[in-house]
Amino acid sequence: MFFISGILLSLIPAALLAQEPDDIQQGQGSATVTAGKAQFQQTCGFCHGPDARGASGPDLLRSPLVNRDVNGNLIGPVIRNGRPEKGMPAFQLPDADISNIVQFLHAEAKTAASVAQRIPREYPLEKLLVGNAEQGKTYFYGAGKCSSCHSVTGDLAHIASKYKPFDLQTRIAFPSGAKPVVTVEDSSGKRIEGEQVYADEFTVTLRDKNRWTHTWKRNSVQVKIRDPLAEHESLLHTYTDQNIHDLFAYLETLK
Ligand code: HEC
Ligand code: HEC
Repeated sequence: MFFISGILLSLIPAALLAQEPDDIQQGQGSATVTAGKAQFQQTCGFCHGPDARGASGPDLLRSPLVNRDVNGNLIGPVIRNGRPEKGMPAFQLPDADISNIVQFLHAEAKTAASVAQRIPREYPLEKLLVGNAEQGKTYFYGAGKCSSCHSVTGDLAHIASKYKPFDLQTRIAFPSGAKPVVTVEDSSGKRIEGEQVYADEFTVTLRDKNRWTHTWKRNSVQVKIRDPLAEHESLLHTYTDQNIHDLFAYLETLK
């Protein structure tokens, strides 16, 4: 699956985006989105910016958490519990308001992604190659800690021949292969493990090795979710655009 998000926007030359017609910036007609926008601007806009693109609080359109949210399963708990020690207050909002805000955030993120998706996949390599391969290599083995999980002679060997440049650049930020592994233990102590199909605050569904799916109410069982991509996700907060440009230039040498 090709997975794309707001962060890529920052990797695409501003001039290209500027050519995009206004129509895709507008036109989110649905009533929930409109209500969510008003609610967001009133309650959240002060810190996250009226368009959710960040102010004193982070840009939510580039947030991997928002990106991976399904119907509020990740955003909901952040709103309700806050992260008080980090400056994000908790809000006691009715479920309907939270749901509207979530719809608004997804609509905004989708608009941002649709702009990015209109950039041709065959986007010329020399326009993407604005980083420094040597610095990318240094980052790969150093601060980026990429080499703690990857090897350029092992799993990433010839990676640049495997993907088109645009897709490779996307995969550095958003690899999409590995699914979270869910382990469920029921009240009798029986365990079932499998790949996550769905998980929110209330239910969890997994697919076992025989391809059967199982669903539980979360409060009736013990659930452990191990996400092999979680580390990648946390890395996203530490990358600068320059790091990604440099890493891309380095990986592009691995033909
Ligand atoms: C007083 C400022 C403030 C207000 C108001 C505020 N936030 Fe936040 N928010 C923050 C800060 C700061 C963070 C970053 C916390 C951290 O570093 O983990 C954050 C983080 C988040 C995150 C997690 C982003 C991520 O990638 O981890 C979400 C989602 C979020 N806020 C949504 C909202 C919504 C929705 C509202 C309105 C209901 C709201 N915030 C109101 C300051 C605020
Ligand atoms: C904690 C381990 C870990 C770290 C650290 C890590 N990765 Fe990954 N990376 C993974 C996993 C797991 C996958 C998914 C593999 C799969 O899809 O089968 C992955 C996938 C990728 C892919 C896609 C590979 C493909 O064939 O689709 C790229 C590119 C990548 N990582 C680059 C990086 C870079 C660059 C860094 C350093 C900035 C980094 N990774 C740091 C674990 C890690």
